[in-house]
Amino acid sequence: MLLILSLACSYDMESWQSPLAKGFTGTPDPVAGEAIFLEEQWEDDSIYALTCAKCHNASEADTLYQDEGELNRPGHTVYNAGLRGSWKNNEKWNMAESDTLGAFGGQICVDVYFPGDSQMTAEQAAHLEAYLKTRTDADPGDDPRAQPLGTDYATWHNQSEFLASIKGKLGEELGSVTDGEVLAEEYCGSCHRTAEGGELEFFGISVLTPEQFAQRIRRVYIDGVKAPNSRMPRIPDDRLSDEDLKLILAYLTAGR
Ligand code: HEC
Ligand code: HEC
Repeated sequence: MLLILSLACSYDMESWQSPLAKGFTGTPDPVAGEAIFLEEQWEDDSIYALTCAKCHNASEADTLYQDEGELNRPGHTVYNAGLRGSWKNNEKWNMAESDTLGAFGGQICVDVYFPGDSQMTAEQAAHLEAYLKTRTDADPGDDPRAQPLGTDYATWHNQSEFLASIKGKLGEELGSVTDGEVLAEEYCGSCHRTAEGGELEFFGISVLTPEQFAQRIRRVYIDGVKAPNSRMPRIPDDRLSDEDLKLILAYLTAGR
């Protein structure tokens, strides 16, 4: 009863229409939206093709920070994402005013991470948004998953110290290779697996130095040179600790 009341009073979920989704005049279908979330690659059929689900899960556990036995991904869960302030100028909880969420985050992500401009259609946006609405608590209360996200995750405070500590070391000199493999499965597995349930694969694995790997994973400048990979999202130190990164580097450089 409480849940129903607070749903009625605190916000209007029907107004979550993103600008793109508004252009669709049919009936938004959450099941079609889920399929888009899990499978749609737009025009990318390369081995690096991304989907929403490679970077975000949609479950109640935010596997960005918590290990629930699932993969950790570079983005937060989209569960309750529509209720977060971060994508509507940090306006909190003003759902009646919110017309920039739902699939809008998806549109931005598609622009950033998929080749070319966003090819998301109004119909896809509407289905996706209908699906995201089903991934929402009726009463989020002070649920941390529904809070605005911090934007200070782009730094790597002790970069030079860390780089000095891995310089010239390979494999077991960096730490336990088997522990590193478990972490690599968890942090890299949503993207670096060529087939469902298959082995992890990294091109260039035999030539990259630990410093170059660290640079790609943290997406930082080293000696004035920016990490070359543009589409792999950053995994910063508040999400993957330096200690765990070191173990992953042990695994990646083992057997040289
Ligand atoms: C390559 C990784 C990547 C892909 C692919 C991706 N996203 Fe994102 N997305 C991010 C990151 C990183 C952020 C910013 C941090 C965060 O909110 O997790 C973000 C932010 C968001 C947000 C805002 C979350 C908030 O709390 O304010 C939404 C909603 C979202 N993405 C939905 C989608 C949808 C839907 C798709 C598929 C169409 C998608 N994303 C594809 C990485 C990705
Ligand atoms: C959300 C998807 C995603 C995750 C998670 C991810 N990567 Fe990547 N990775 C990519 C993409 C996409 C590329 C291709 C980059 C480009 O096109 O610029 C890439 C490229 C790389 C490369 C460059 C060599 C190559 O394979 O071409 C390395 C090394 C790498 N990733 C390592 C890692 C490691 C280690 C992890 C886990 C700590 C990780 N990645 C997690 C998507 C991901």
